[in-house]
Amino acid sequence: MSEVLVEYPLPEVGLIRIHRPEARNALNQAVREQLAAHFTTLGNDPQVRCLVLTGGEKFFVAGADIRAMAEAGAIDILLRQSHRLWQALAACPKPVIAAVNGYAWGGGCELAMHADIIVAGESASFSQPEVKLGIMPGAGGTQRLTRAVGKFQAMKMVLTGQPVSAREALAMGLASEVVADAQVLPRAVELAGQIAALPPLAVMQIKEVLLAGQDAPLETALLLERKAFQLLFASQDQKEGMQAFLDKRKPVFKGR
Ligand code: HXC
Repeated sequence: MSEVLVEYPLPEVGLIRIHRPEARNALNQAVREQLAAHFTTLGNDPQVRCLVLTGGEKFFVAGADIRAMAEAGAIDILLRQSHRLWQALAACPKPVIAAVNGYAWGGGCELAMHADIIVAGESASFSQPEVKLGIMPGAGGTQRLTRAVGKFQAMKMVLTGQPVSAREALAMGLASEVVADAQVLPRAVELAGQIAALPPLAVMQIKEVLLAGQDAPLETALLLERKAFQLLFASQDQKEGMQAFLDKRKPVFKGR
């Protein structure tokens, strides 16, 4: 049975749902492979303009599967090449919204950080508890986290392994918004619908430049931004968006 399900809450929104409740949605190799496959497929599907990633109403993901790691040796871990599966998520050209209820721990926190927007429920918690298991984060928990929240909050999380609440995550920049638990998925889908209605070329360029620019020197990042800005003037959607404003009508975007 599939542990990662795809639904379409709106015609242009793909919802990826991890469903492995008996293990608190822990990421084993099968879940990682299914996630990578769905992200690749939906990322390439011209009908889909925004993705929502969720684990369900009670827990997002309680980390990598500890049972599958407990007896592994270094070469086993190396040969799993899990980073190639994570890469499929990181390379998704469309915006991804994580809808986080409950635990986003370890690989689950790292998974949420692969998203572009994080909507968290009041009871959600975020943690990088790997140190308590004698390991350390291995899919961005020391890097994406530090870029998101800065050195001192990141160090506190990865060195103590203590969870932070949704409100704390929001305050430190690890969540985009916090809503009532029952509203997490509806709100994430609503945001995805808003983004899906916007010109997809502009949306795609914004995501690409923001992420690429984060790791480049400022001058290079500004150059990337400028070039993408210029490129968008070649799109029909730019002409349509501006003309519709001047005509005082609603624009019709075609992704061209
Ligand atoms: C395997 C897990 C699991 C995990 C929970 N389960 N988390 N199995 N890997 N990460 C399983 C339990 O063994 C148990 O199975 C069932 O799910 C229910 O878990 P409980 O502990 O009974 O549930 P609860 O009391 O609600 O507590 C939830 C929890 C706790 C607080 C999330 O399960 C927990 O601490 N889990 C581990 C969290 C963690 O350390 N994550 C980091 C993993 S390392 P049975 O069969 O007994 O019912 C990591 C590295 C990433 O993520 C590296 C990326 C490259």
